[in-house]
Amino acid sequence: MIKNLPLLALIFFLLFTVNAISVSAQDNECATLFATACSECHEIEKGCDLLGQSKKEWHELFEYMESMGAEISDEIEEKLLACLVIPGDAIKALCKK
Ligand code: HEC
Repeated sequence: MIKNLPLLALIFFLLFTVNAISVSAQDNECATLFATACSECHEIEKGCDLLGQSKKEWHELFEYMESMGAEISDEIEEKLLACLVIPGDAIKALCKK
């Protein structure tokens, strides 16, 4: 049992590290998507002001923009909703928040 402790410690360490890396990778993907998709028609600051608002509010904004002629695919919207409701550090850095 004692013999296996270092191995157990190593496994926990690896799990923790892999988890942290995948979280920040997703975070960066969010920021890239936000920077590219939301700067197409206007400056991203518009979106920055609204970080953290609810999924319903974001959805209404997307509908509003679509009614104003914006074309944002459902796939992009779905991905962005996840990013914007609980913004990660990368998006916050982008928005200087
Ligand atoms: C295809 C064009 C287009 C894209 C892409 C786009 N928008 Fe817009 N957006 C508009 C238009 C058109 C308006 C309405 C006119 C204006 O306020 O500039 C608007 C307005 C807004 C507003 C102001 C709404 C209000 O109540 O005045 C916000 C906030 C916003 N967009 C955020 C975003 C975010 C976040 C993204 C990325 C997901 C995004 N936009 C991507 C076209 C777009």
